[in-house]
Amino acid sequence: MNQIILANCVEFMSEKMEPNSIDLTVTSPPYDSLRDYNGYTFDCASVAQGLFRVTKEGGVVVWVVADKIKNGNKSLTSFKQAILFQDVGFNVHDVMIYRKKNTPFMRSNAYTNCYEFMFVFSKGKPKTFNPLTTETVRQGVEMMPTNKGPDGINNKVPGKLNDSKTKINIWDYAVGLHGTTSDKIAFQHPAVFPEKLAEDHILSWSNKGDLIFDPMCGSGTTCKMAAKNGRNYIGCDVSEEYLEIARERLKLLSN
Ligand SMILES: C[S@@+](CC[C@H](N)C(=O)[O-])C[C@H]1O[C@@H](n2cnc3c(N)ncnc32)[C@H](O)[C@@H]1O
Repeated sequence: MNQIILANCVEFMSEKMEPNSIDLTVTSPPYDSLRDYNGYTFDCASVAQGLFRVTKEGGVVVWVVADKIKNGNKSLTSFKQAILFQDVGFNVHDVMIYRKKNTPFMRSNAYTNCYEFMFVFSKGKPKTFNPLTTETVRQGVEMMPTNKGPDGINNKVPGKLNDSKTKINIWDYAVGLHGTTSDKIAFQHPAVFPEKLAEDHILSWSNKGDLIFDPMCGSGTTCKMAAKNGRNYIGCDVSEEYLEIARERLKLLSN
């Protein structure tokens, strides 16, 4: 617990981890062949099977992924992977969108892509849901219609408007320095996801003291946000170079 380990996550899950031990996984796999992570191939079916084994009943896996475009054709790897998760036994609890506030990627003959998927897989019914809320546009007291009376008149009575409501499932994050993170060192990794994204899922699907896993932890974003929010964590990655970044970020947090 509270360690990050150099390992292939498939071997690590099957050889070192207890079944039904993880409350929440927040992770992001290598995106198609867009990035070369030291030549490692990525076997998604085995990762999904391993995650199903180590996840507690009611536990959740958040899988953040986007598709490659080759010759004008989107790979749809994201959905192919989601189907693999469903095939090994997970429920597809939600398909959420991570919308980037500043999007560098543009195509001349299509609208600018501004999102990635955040698949929320659950092993059975999620055991924890702490809904994040957002402020409502109108607050205070307003005249509200009551049910029509026998006279057919729709009366209005003063009623208090809700101050907040549950967030929608499209979440916006700024990316880049001070958006993704303020840890400059993190950008030595090519594909860091925003700290706030990891934190929002950790707060939503887990409680203090729970065990959070990132099998492909890269620069350690999930582990850092788990530690920051009073959760335990386990991270692993095939790259020692990336784990060094993750260790450094965890050190910065504890200073
Ligand atoms: C998209 S990155 C994750 C980035 C991370 N979410 C962050 O914020 O820094 C994917 C990571 O998966 C790692 N990886 C690829 N195949 C792996 C495997 N079989 N086992 C463990 N890690 C793997 C890569 O080294 C890379 O760091």
